[in-house]
Formats: sequence, structure tokens, C-alpha cells
Amino acid sequence: MKIHLNAEALTALKYCIRVADAFDCEDMAVLATQLGYPSTAQEIQRRIAEMKDRDRYAVYVAVDSNKKVIGWIGVYLFRAVEVDEFAEISGLVVEQSVRSHGIGAKLLLAAEEWARTSGCLHISVRSNVVRERAHKFYLRHAYAFTKVQKTFVKNLQR
Ligand SMILES: CC(C)(COP(=O)(O)OP(=O)(O)OC[C@H]1O[C@@H](n2cnc3c(N)ncnc32)[C@H](O)[C@@H]1OP(=O)(O)O)[C@@H](O)C(=O)NCCC(=O)NCCS
Repeated sequence: MKIHLNAEALTALKYCIRVADAFDCEDMAVLATQLGYPSTAQEIQRRIAEMKDRDRYAVYVAVDSNKKVIGWIGVYLFRAVEVDEFAEISGLVVEQSVRSHGIGAKLLLAAEEWARTSGCLHISVRSNVVRERAHKFYLRHAYAFTKVQKTFVKNLQR
């Protein structure tokens, strides 16, 4: 369900950023679907539970005064042979009716703070070419555009 807020309601919007919990999964699933990754609450709950190593993964949520999750961000430590470990944002979404209110910026800050505390010198994000608004958002937050990539996926079940 899409909730429309008028300008006054948006100004009064109160929310906090905290670590995601199991009871957030229902709302997080709705937002994952808005992001373009249809998911059930059970799937979200299982995926977060599988991120057992809390030193390598973090998921933060933005929660409004009704305890409704209105945004989330995932971040993890990427380890590779060819580069030193760095942090990568795995997903970021803000409920569409409350965008442009600084919530995305606060979630980004939480992920960056986690990465800094984890000892990372860099944080990056891969973003689909069609997400032009998100690209402006990252540029505004001092993320440099470095390259365009193609993604290849192979189905291993057949
Ligand atoms: C990208 C996204 C997460 C940004 O979230 P957001 O909460 O709207 O982000 P912010 O409000 O911090 O900043 C976004 C805009 O609001 C403006 N803004 C920031 N604080 C504001 C405030 N207090 N009042 C009004 N506008 C504000 C910013 O100038 C920015 O403008 P822009 O439209 O030119 O980018 C959100 O648009 C989204 O979920 N998009 C769909 C999913 C997606 O693309 N995710 C990224 C995947 S890589």
C-alpha cells in the first residue's frame, strides 16, 4: 500500500536509524520489492540470519514513530585477491512516499560509519544504469563514478 504524506506531514516525520531485527522483515520485504527484488518476509529473515558473521555484514533500518520500517541499507566487507578489503553497499531503499526527506542520507552515513569502524578505507556501491536518481544521490554524497560494468549470470541448476 502506498501512503501519501502532505508537505506538513513530511516536515513532521520522525524516524530513527538502528540495526535491523527479525520483526522488521515484513516491512523490509515490501521495500525489497520496491527496490526490484520481490521477496517474502521469511526470505528476508533467513538471509539476515545467514549473515552470521556480524563483523562482515551490517543491515540498518530507518523506523518511523509507528515502528514502521521506511528504509533499509545493507553493507558488507568485500574480500578479494586483487584489492585490499573494502566495504560495499549491497542494497539501499527508502519507502517511495517518504523519499527526499534525508532518510537515504542517514542510512548511508550509518553504513559508512560501520565501514570506517571496520577499518575500511573505501566504500563502494554498484548501481543499475537505469537508477539515475540514485546516481545523483551518490555523487552528492562524494561517491566518484569509476566505471560501467556488465553482469553475467549462469544458472547452475541445469
Ligand atoms: C536513492 C534513495 C535511496 C535515496 O533516498 P532518499 O531518502 O530519497 O534520499 P535523501 O532524501 O537523503 O536524498 C535524496 C533527495 O532528497 C533531497 N533531500 C535531502 N534531504 C532533504 C530534506 N530534508 N527535505 C527535502 N529534500 C531533501 C536531496 O537533495 C536529494 O535530491 P535528489 O532527488 O536530487 O537526489 C531513494 O531514492 C530510493 O530508495 N530509490 C529507489 C531505490 C534505489 O535506487 N536504490 C539505490 C540502489 S543502488
